[in-house]
Amino acid sequence: MVKVNVLDHPLIKIKLSVLRDKNTNHTEFKANLNEIASLMVYELLSDYKPKEICIETPTNSKTIGKCFDKEIVIVPILRAGIGMVEGIKLLLPQARVGHIGLYRDEKTLESHEYFYKMPNVPKDSVIIVVDPMLATGGSAIDAINKLNKDGFSNIKMVSIVGAPEGINNLKQKVKNVDLFIAAIDEKLNKDGYIIPGLGDAGDRIFGTK
Ligand code: PRP
Ligand code: URA
Repeated sequence: MVKVNVLDHPLIKIKLSVLRDKNTNHTEFKANLNEIASLMVYELLSDYKPKEICIETPTNSKTIGKCFDKEIVIVPILRAGIGMVEGIKLLLPQARVGHIGLYRDEKTLESHEYFYKMPNVPKDSVIIVVDPMLATGGSAIDAINKLNKDGFSNIKMVSIVGAPEGINNLKQKVKNVDLFIAAIDEKLNKDGYIIPGLGDAGDRIFGTK
């Protein structure tokens, strides 16, 4: 089952508006994307159950504290997902980073894999797949299915903007994923772009257009 969580925090909505604005340059775009990713992962972690540990404090006393008991791996879908990693690492500096390289054929809109590298971590690690755009859903579906085949099942996906078509596709083609998204937009246009969307995320992050 895909559980869709649309995050409505005002800070997320304000930063999303900066991303949508065509006058936002690539420096501001990347900064806001990292900030929004950080806020979204803060929300995503709200149901994480940390392990209890005993801590000795400098006052010669003991107290119960909490710590992570699982590895966390951030997995950006290249290229655009890279623009969210730094923001998430601010909250989770210990997280490792895997990479999945996928590009979308401009004509068929099908995704094609060109790179896959995950760290050597237990298969029950928390995997946070990040990609700002969920358009047809093809890239997200291929990434999640690849991770499943590799044995990972504890998968969360963070996207900024999704199209209803892509979200329905995801619901039909993957199992057991929690999706965290800042907005579900109107539709896809004939070229597979999200409307109103924010344009080509990769180009806007890296200033390639
Ligand atoms: C974009 C975006 C997603 C994908 C979404 O990547 O970053 O990965 O398209 O579209 P989909 O849901 O229809 O698969 P693109 O292939 O343009 O590559 P880039 O990030 O390298 O620019
Ligand atoms: N990829 C993007 O970068 N933007 C879209 O609107 C759709 C796919």
